[in-house]
Amino acid sequence: MCGIFGVIGQNAVSSTLRALKLLEYRGYDSAGIAVKREGFLEICKTEGRIAKLQQLAQALSEGRTAIGHTRWATHGEVSTANAHPFLSPNGKFAIVHNGILENYAELKAQLGKEKFTSQTDSEVVAHLLEREHRGNVLETVLTVSRMLKGSFAIVVLSTEDNKLFAIKNKSPLVVGFSQTGSYLCSDIRCVAHWANSVAVTPDNTVVELSDSSARFFTLDGAPLKVDFFVPEAGESLPQTDGDLMLKEITEIPDKLRRAKQAYFDGGGLQLTVEQARKIRRIYLVGCGTAYNSGMQAISVARQWLDVDAIPVIAGEFIYDNYPVDGDTLSIFISQSGETADTLRAAERVREMGGITYAVTNTAGSSLTFACRHTINIGAGGEFAVASTKAYNCQLVSLTLLLLDLGRMRGTVPFSFYSKLVEEMDALPDAVSQILEESYLVARLAERVKDCSAVFYIGRTTDYPTACEGSLKLKEISYIHSEAYPAGELKHGTLALIDDSVCVVAISTDKALKDKMVSSVKEVTSRGAKVVSVAPYELPDCEPLLLPALHPALAGIVAAVPLQLLAYYVAKRLGRDVDKPRNLAKSVTVE
Ligand code: F6R
Repeated sequence: MCGIFGVIGQNAVSSTLRALKLLEYRGYDSAGIAVKREGFLEICKTEGRIAKLQQLAQALSEGRTAIGHTRWATHGEVSTANAHPFLSPNGKFAIVHNGILENYAELKAQLGKEKFTSQTDSEVVAHLLEREHRGNVLETVLTVSRMLKGSFAIVVLSTEDNKLFAIKNKSPLVVGFSQTGSYLCSDIRCVAHWANSVAVTPDNTVVELSDSSARFFTLDGAPLKVDFFVPEAGESLPQTDGDLMLKEITEIPDKLRRAKQAYFDGGGLQLTVEQARKIRRIYLVGCGTAYNSGMQAISVARQWLDVDAIPVIAGEFIYDNYPVDGDTLSIFISQSGETADTLRAAERVREMGGITYAVTNTAGSSLTFACRHTINIGAGGEFAVASTKAYNCQLVSLTLLLLDLGRMRGTVPFSFYSKLVEEMDALPDAVSQILEESYLVARLAERVKDCSAVFYIGRTTDYPTACEGSLKLKEISYIHSEAYPAGELKHGTLALIDDSVCVVAISTDKALKDKMVSSVKEVTSRGAKVVSVAPYELPDCEPLLLPALHPALAGIVAAVPLQLLAYYVAKRLGRDVDKPRNLAKSVTVE
């Protein structure tokens, strides 16, 4: 949700524009840049995508200090006026902000009759900086930082000196240095394009950045020590003439291999046998696709775990009353490692003394600092807004983690463990087989695209797959879609089934095939078209055949035709699949 960047160094304008392109997945409704000139700040901003800003910014000459922003609107419509950066009325300060200022209305009221140019919560910060300025910019920023409530990563540029300042609480902010410049950025992967030394800024911190050093302060102005480390190399935006989402789906076979390797390279489950045996409950916590992967992994692992294991939506976990103690294992799943709901949930569990694991695709992300242990899923940069390869890789990591736990607790025999670990090697070829036949999915998409709604159904381990297929379809095609345990339709939702509806029936477990045949009958007799996703054909269905696999691994592959179906339906409807409406990839607000 919004990407921010600040740089002190040569070619600051070009670096900022390049960074904004890399940050575009965080929000893409408007963007802007401010650059320091001799005695004044020059601003260029626009509604629309980064490409439009790049065009407009051709008129800007280079500078040494600049800040930039790509927006995902929260307060105020999408417009040039609401795009960041915002200038203070006297033009001495420019700010960019990611997050939500919860007390902005109160602060605005204090500013009385001052004229605001936007409807945003953020602009108030520029006004406060002007009002509180007594000559020393650091003191001014510290004073303003103590007035703000909510979540914010704010970068401040001023006419006064050649420094940048930042205020950080509950929105990501990374500080970085290269041989030629210093940086502030929302995203560690982005800043790693330039920086070879980075620090993750703690909450409630003010940063003063010069071209060769950074000082960190508590909001009271006390110096703070923050460790720097070498980040993993930054990944470039993949070069493709086509869509990133399709490219990322085609990477799944290779990434599944890496996920398995990354799990073992990272040392796997880092608990002693005694700790593992004492665990009394397990939570798998995440949002959206990450939640679905937790639900899927648990539905499989329930067969071998002798302990309560519950998937929980992170935004619910924070405000509900889930018990946590030293024998509670909580696994936080997040591709980005920056999702606010998941971070807050992890912080809560840590405070309560639970064991915390981050299962993430982003080394050095905030979640890896919030959790005691980290497992990297090895999916490589995911840039399309709709998550695909990360889901399949999360399932590999989670399956291995929960298998290890079962082994340590003595509920998974070594023969079962080694068989499953070995059979994981069959996953890449199984996915490749589906990808080779993606033309079949594309053909089916032609029929699904005109449906008024699409219902996804599955039982037990297939229900989470249904949820993921449904989420993918709705987010990029905008067709109404829901997922149900197959037996549940008859308890109400059948009322919605008619000949304008399509049902996708997922059935990977042969033991439940007959039950699924009955569910299919219920919907076909009311006129629905049915697509089956199974390793066998089902009567009255258009089949998408899955390769035969160990039942505990089937869901990792069954998601792939559903990812493809969502993609092809969205393409046929002319949607922008990589940047769907109203969404952003990294949801850093609660
Ligand atoms: C769906 C999607 C979202 C994310 C969710 C969590 O395609 O991308 O549902 O899965 O916002 O994001 P992470 O995994 O980064 O915490």
